[in-house]
Amino acid sequence: GKPLVIAIDGPSGSGKSSVSKEVARRLKLAYLDTGAMYRALTWYCLKTGVDLQDGAAVEQASKIMPLEISTSTATEYVAVDGTDITDEIRDPLISSSVSAVATTLGARTELIRRQRELIDQHHRRMVVEGRDITTVVVPNAEVRMLLTASEEARLRRRGIQLGGTQTKEQLNTQVIQRDAKDSTVVNFTQAADGVVTLDSSDLNFEETVETALAIVSKVI
Ligand code: C5P
Repeated sequence: GKPLVIAIDGPSGSGKSSVSKEVARRLKLAYLDTGAMYRALTWYCLKTGVDLQDGAAVEQASKIMPLEISTSTATEYVAVDGTDITDEIRDPLISSSVSAVATTLGARTELIRRQRELIDQHHRRMVVEGRDITTVVVPNAEVRMLLTASEEARLRRRGIQLGGTQTKEQLNTQVIQRDAKDSTVVNFTQAADGVVTLDSSDLNFEETVETALAIVSKVI
């Protein structure tokens, strides 16, 4: 088929991952969760004793990390050096450390290189989600979307996702403070030129997926 890269950016708790995955499923496209790659690198640095504040060491780790990541909507699988870390990378410890890794520019360059390689391997037919996909990774994507939601909606969704076990402060750390740190290197709060904003604050999951599919159908 013709190239169809659907680039989706947005803050945490916007519903990006679940919506992106469902869009990929319905359009029978591959799916790449770039956040999982930053999380895997964070896990790898912690595992191998790399100081997250040491930019050169984090960059070096990004280059040698033996990462495997699934690009199918049927299975979520992330492994480093053969160790399955699919569940572990969702741990609050990783969530609270990942921004330190993601703000290391040398590591971003390497992960972006790997992301572009994966997109090419799928003949550019893929839904790719993250923070800098519409602006840096694939600025020439056929479809570019910014999925946003009010702060209130994002805190509520992340709370539900984590099983209602988190206090207000913990949720605030995991959503608002992480976004603030991530925003120092990538802008995912305003849509760049040519990027369509989809505000899901008042939409349920199905409505959000249908709106995203309507945006896609305008260009294909
Ligand atoms: O999407 P998710 O919340 O799993 O992303 C985890 C972290 O990875 C983000 O908080 C951010 O630090 C980093 N990230 C990034 N660029 C991307 C995707 C994720 O910096 N394209």
